[in-house]
Amino acid sequence: MKLISLDSMEPGKKLGRPIYNEKGTLLLGAGVAVSSRYLRRLKEMGYSSVYIEEKGYEDIEVNDVVSDKTRMEAVSAISETFESVRGGDVRSDKVSLDRGKVTGVADKIVDDLTGSGDQLMDLIDLKSFDNYTFMHSVNTSVLTVLTAASVGQFTAMELRDMALGAMLADIGKAHIPIEVVQKKGRLTPDEFAQMKKHVQIGYELLLHKSQMKPLVASVALQHHEYYNGSGYPNSLPGEKIHIYSRYVALADVYDSLTSDRSYKRRLPPLVGLEYLKLGSGTHFDPACLEHFIGHVAPYPAASTVLLNTGEKAVVVKNNIKNIGRPQVRVLTTPDGKELGKPFEVNLASQPEYTIQSVQP
Ligand SMILES: [Fe+2]
Repeated sequence: MKLISLDSMEPGKKLGRPIYNEKGTLLLGAGVAVSSRYLRRLKEMGYSSVYIEEKGYEDIEVNDVVSDKTRMEAVSAISETFESVRGGDVRSDKVSLDRGKVTGVADKIVDDLTGSGDQLMDLIDLKSFDNYTFMHSVNTSVLTVLTAASVGQFTAMELRDMALGAMLADIGKAHIPIEVVQKKGRLTPDEFAQMKKHVQIGYELLLHKSQMKPLVASVALQHHEYYNGSGYPNSLPGEKIHIYSRYVALADVYDSLTSDRSYKRRLPPLVGLEYLKLGSGTHFDPACLEHFIGHVAPYPAASTVLLNTGEKAVVVKNNIKNIGRPQVRVLTTPDGKELGKPFEVNLASQPEYTIQSVQP
């Protein structure tokens, strides 16, 4: 598989990973040839890149940490949950949140992530403008559990509560005017003030209108608090922010930075991680951050990178023990000529090579 920018993609290439809509329904399956019409449509939907099948890249695998089925069941459950609480008065008796479906998918996320030892996020969860909201909630949940599970101090029940808290952290947005939530562009200060209310609304919904534990509800309330006390709504500092929310905050910010939005292109994982590091001790708990950056590949498999030698290469495989120095396949000479016989370099054992930049 190869990660390719849509701007440089020729029609006729086959998709390497499926494309889903905002309800978790399949739109285009893996292996489907992208005609020029589909290519145009993918750009309109807001994708800037996709994974494709490509000659010479057949053996490069992009493995998700949870199954596609789990991801899409979660998207569907969260989309239904949002719809079930949308509109009306949060305090009205008519609003109620069924915890059954989301609890079921939270369990699956935890099962997928804890079944096979320490795992690494080695793919970019590509999204469109339309499927962003729910796929973001699900990926925030996946990243939270992936990171927290690696610490080894949380029980399966605690991980499930974190998964639920992360998935439902933005549920309060169901009660923010839709034109603000779906605005294609940056929010004005007034709109931002409205948007900030989603934390309190979400907390109340989860606390009073569902059978969720108060700790799960507290993630909705606290996921925008910052470690130095400069966040909202209560300017809580450090350990006053519950540990669940300290993990969710990292996953939430990282996933939003690395996703395409109507007003900005996604940042490559490396840049998203650098941004998180800049917030160590101010926005984020340094200990949680360390676990996070130890489990997210800055150069995911199938990405194209430029080496310090000037050679272009593709990332073949990442190793969780040394995630900044993957195995790469060199594709060109230093002056950009395509090699007839590409060769592989393991950066972990060849310190003379470094990655200079990564193609978006
Ligand atoms: Fe939020």
